[in-house]
Amino acid sequence: MSKKICVIYGGMSAEREVSLKSGKNIADALRKSYSDVTLVDADYDLASKVAAVKPDVCVIALHGTFGEDGSVQGMLETMGIPYTGSGVAASAVTFDKCLAKRVFKDAGIPTPRYVMVKKGDKKAPFVPCVVKPARQGSSVGVSIVENPSGYALAVEEAFKYDSKVIAEEFISGRELTVPVMDGRAFPPIWIRPKRGFYDYKNKYTAGMTDYLLDTGLSKGRLATLSRLAEKAYGACGCRSMARVDFIGTERVFYAIEVNTVPGMTATSLVPKSAGRLGYSFEEIVRLIAESASLDHARTDKK
Ligand SMILES: Nc1ncnc2c1ncn2[C@@H]1O[C@H](COP(=O)(O)OP(=O)(O)O)[C@@H](O)[C@H]1O
Ligand SMILES: [Mg+2]
Repeated sequence: MSKKICVIYGGMSAEREVSLKSGKNIADALRKSYSDVTLVDADYDLASKVAAVKPDVCVIALHGTFGEDGSVQGMLETMGIPYTGSGVAASAVTFDKCLAKRVFKDAGIPTPRYVMVKKGDKKAPFVPCVVKPARQGSSVGVSIVENPSGYALAVEEAFKYDSKVIAEEFISGRELTVPVMDGRAFPPIWIRPKRGFYDYKNKYTAGMTDYLLDTGLSKGRLATLSRLAEKAYGACGCRSMARVDFIGTERVFYAIEVNTVPGMTATSLVPKSAGRLGYSFEEIVRLIAESASLDHARTDKK
């Protein structure tokens, strides 16, 4: 196909390494369908780099700050270049766990209760709890506090990565993730770390976590989970591809977050889920590239 595609990857966030892998995988796959694919490493000079490529479409493969949070999306809006994933507001809302949880609550989607944490806080609001930077990803700065004495250290750790930190009630259950493409839920995946919780190491080291397409959920429960994922996607105003993460107990699926630029590495979950529907990696990447759009179509540009 003749469309000129620019894959934006790398970037300046704590998830740079993951993004380098995602971006490279995406570009390799796109080159099988499109003849003109350029990889651009995001830095402070990103706008001029993209302008030099003059792409028809940008595929955003950036995770974390300056990439998944609405900032690059805003830049591309002002440049009038369609991009993949969610728009400016949806990216910003889902990237901030406090805002996302408020949207979940408003839409009637269960989410664990939480409090905002102040620097230097020493007393855990609930135990066990999960202390996390509000605007990060890849479990960076996330700690599970099982003992009140571990709280202060967890707070200190989270503040290293963001000025906004939350403490959330720990939910004991199974972790389930549901990709949603253009409003339609893909098959869920049960994420089962062999040891501990789904931290950075368990996310990115092959063999440390089992990813199961056979969730063992009844048909009814599966339908409930899919509808909740689609509802969360819709309530946050997402488009293109996003992934909604849950922790499921016997009775309730608690939404914990929405990722608007899900990983596309060898161990990533979107390709795995899409595979169950018969999509190859190339096909799902092409589908995502073709979903590129703008919040506001430019009328002054050809
Ligand atoms: N409320 C919770 N109860 C139990 N485990 C949690 C909870 N919140 C997060 N976790 C664990 O921490 C991991 C990272 O938390 P998450 O909110 O998804 O942040 P990130 O954006 O860094 O992925 C989750 O994948 C899960 O394993
Ligand atoms: Mg997560």
